[in-house]
Amino acid sequence: MSLAASPAAPLQIDEQLARVAQSGLASRPKTLPPWLFYDEAGSELFEQITELPEYYLTRTERSIFERHASEMVRLAAGGSRLRFTELGAGSAEKTHVLMKAALALQNQLVFEAVDVSATALLVAQARIEREIPGVHAALLEMDYTNGFELEACDRGERRLVLYIGSSIGNFEPEESARILHKVRRQLDPGDGLLLGVDLVKDKSALQAAYDDAAGVTAAFNKNMLVRMNRELAADFDLDRFLHRALWNNTMSRMEMHLESCVDQCVRFAALDWEVEFAAGESIHTENSYKYRPGDAEAMLAAEGFACAGTWTDERGWFEVVLGQASSR
Ligand code: AVJ
Repeated sequence: MSLAASPAAPLQIDEQLARVAQSGLASRPKTLPPWLFYDEAGSELFEQITELPEYYLTRTERSIFERHASEMVRLAAGGSRLRFTELGAGSAEKTHVLMKAALALQNQLVFEAVDVSATALLVAQARIEREIPGVHAALLEMDYTNGFELEACDRGERRLVLYIGSSIGNFEPEESARILHKVRRQLDPGDGLLLGVDLVKDKSALQAAYDDAAGVTAAFNKNMLVRMNRELAADFDLDRFLHRALWNNTMSRMEMHLESCVDQCVRFAALDWEVEFAAGESIHTENSYKYRPGDAEAMLAAEGFACAGTWTDERGWFEVVLGQASSR
């Protein structure tokens, strides 16, 4: 009787990652979902992106908050005490400005940070509690796209959900609507949703933001391949893929792709599976929708929010909208 040799170091594979990689790479065109970017290295690369000269989004949104945070929280509070709930909080760095503005109206603030990455949340919590006394950070490790439940607010308290950073831009219009709908279902009339969206602008500015000179965004995009090499024992050769950032005007979105430079076959040892790439064929890794003034207000109105305020920067590059849950 012969026994098959057992693998030297069995890899503990993440079933969800395996499923998503296999189905995405088996489909045509090949796609992978953007949440795959955010392992520890990817989250760190994203933090670096937010500081790039070309990546205007974070800086521009922060400038809007710096200028208008007091008005935003005053309108959201309407005389009540606020509680913040941030979706996809990550490092929650821009939220500091809003927290300080809220603390000018009340002396304590509950801050609920929702994110899929527990590490990002712990870092955010430590920093907040150290730097902003009066804030109590609660961590909710979950994927808000799969529907979620929030604890009810205290009496006399209003919730302000923060969905900022143009995070909503990763989703197709139907999916965004579904997310806003789920948020609305967790809110009571009078509660608020602060939504940050990136606006359509000159194509060259958009393209530079997603294809920076230092190559950080290219590394961020290729991190998906690094991750599959490590977690699924794949053998992607990073030099045989090109980072591509394209403006799709019809769909009003920036797209990121990883384009195969040559005909090649990539093997996933952990899945005992192979996938072929033709030269020029690409994996579509991300959409970042860009909106026109009025779009965010319309998306909110369709899901049961009245628009209580809209703020933008001098160039009109980014927009923050406050929706207030209407009674129905
Ligand atoms: C975190 C989804 C807002 O789309 O601009 C940055 C992610 N991708 N550079 C964005 C990202 C490439 C970012 N979001």
